[in-house]
Amino acid sequence: MERYIINGGKPLVGEVTISGAKNAAVAIIPATILCDEPCRIENVPNISDVNLIARILQNLGAKVQRVNKHTLDIDPRPINTCSATDDSVRGMRASYYLLGALIGRWGKAKVALPGGCNFGLRPIDQHLKGFEAMGADCQLVGGAIVEAKCEGKVQGAQIYLDTVSVGTTMNLMLAAVKAQGQTIIENAAKEPHIVDLANFLNSMGANIRGAGTDVIKIRGVDYLHGITYSIIPDQIEAGTYMAAVAATRGKLLVKNVTPKHLDSITAKLEEIGVSVEEFDEAVLIDATNRSLKRCNIKTMPHPGFPTDCQPQFVAMLTTVNGTSIVTENVWDNRYQYIRELLLMGANISVEGRVAIVDGDSQLHGAPVKATDLRAGAALIIAGLVASGTTEISSIHYIERGYEEIIEKLCALGADIKKQYVPEEDAAVTA
Ligand code: EPU
Repeated sequence: MERYIINGGKPLVGEVTISGAKNAAVAIIPATILCDEPCRIENVPNISDVNLIARILQNLGAKVQRVNKHTLDIDPRPINTCSATDDSVRGMRASYYLLGALIGRWGKAKVALPGGCNFGLRPIDQHLKGFEAMGADCQLVGGAIVEAKCEGKVQGAQIYLDTVSVGTTMNLMLAAVKAQGQTIIENAAKEPHIVDLANFLNSMGANIRGAGTDVIKIRGVDYLHGITYSIIPDQIEAGTYMAAVAATRGKLLVKNVTPKHLDSITAKLEEIGVSVEEFDEAVLIDATNRSLKRCNIKTMPHPGFPTDCQPQFVAMLTTVNGTSIVTENVWDNRYQYIRELLLMGANISVEGRVAIVDGDSQLHGAPVKATDLRAGAALIIAGLVASGTTEISSIHYIERGYEEIIEKLCALGADIKKQYVPEEDAAVTA
């Protein structure tokens, strides 16, 4: 058991370098299953979710080698099974990409149903509907494993998604890349990592058009050649630091970002009175000596405000003047962390999908628990602002998606450290 200990009250000041995008990496690594030659992936974030998906590939038979902290060499040619059913697969949500990649390579797959962060129902009905349209018969085996089988090769199909889904869009792209004929995905999601996956596959010789719009056309190809590819910067990690610097009234140069991907986040910060200056691959956030004011936020699929920054912004909005209204439109139950913020003195009420956040709360330190990855990030932001000491438990959630968060924050002047907790003490404080 480990926890983070934060002594709050210090503004974040300096420069931070953003890592590669988690949600691109967890799709691009399994996408190498489709490649007919070895690949090199650069700007891979060094986080536990990525290490897990790399290990799962290794268990399938791929040769995976870490060349340095952020570069993986993957040779998928030795993979000789389409079955991924051990417990490690269940350990992360994104292992559903194994379904698309294995169906794309073998026309069949057997994959354990994913676990991952816990904020309400996380169905994969749209993924399965798409695979079925492409000729794969999908069965739930024992309630916990999906088995998909095609008669021969996967067939191109026209698929309309009932809901805009990032995972479905990427998974169907994977299944379609080597399919017979053309696949059209309508009502597709448009997140930057969807474009990144398409760019990765196209660089290997795939034929995908329209990624980043709501209609994606994929014409199947027979062969994908090896490449070196660099993953895009993590939009959500950047958004997290941007919220943190606003909350602490600091000044931060956020480096290795694509400013265009941050438009919705930048717009909200400017609306509340933070200065944001854009450079080619960096943004400068200045909240020093500013009196920030309330705003309303509605989460939406890209290019709307990302749900994955909602908790961090709610934590930040507890520090501004006035009452902000936040509406979560993507997930049913992404407010569990608010219970923890209340323990720290926040004044927030939740009615269904709406959180009413009273600014000017005087947050104080408390023992709190991360309930998922972004919830944990929100608690860190609250701890950086709060008076006294905040202790955050269940930090394994945070380390799924934030590379070296302690080191990065300490370099900006935060007083945060990781502490080992003996098991019997953990039972008392968690
Ligand atoms: N949905 C369905 N049926 C499906 C798939 C999705 O009804 O078959 C619904 C979901 O219940 C949800 C909505 O569609 O209400 C959107 O879900 P989506 O499929 O877009 O989410 P996801 O692909 O499972 C990814 C990210 C999440 C992020 C969402 C939304 C990964 C590994 N995860 O999840 O990231 O919140 O997109 O942008 O890419 C995080 O990084 O903290 C995280 C949770």
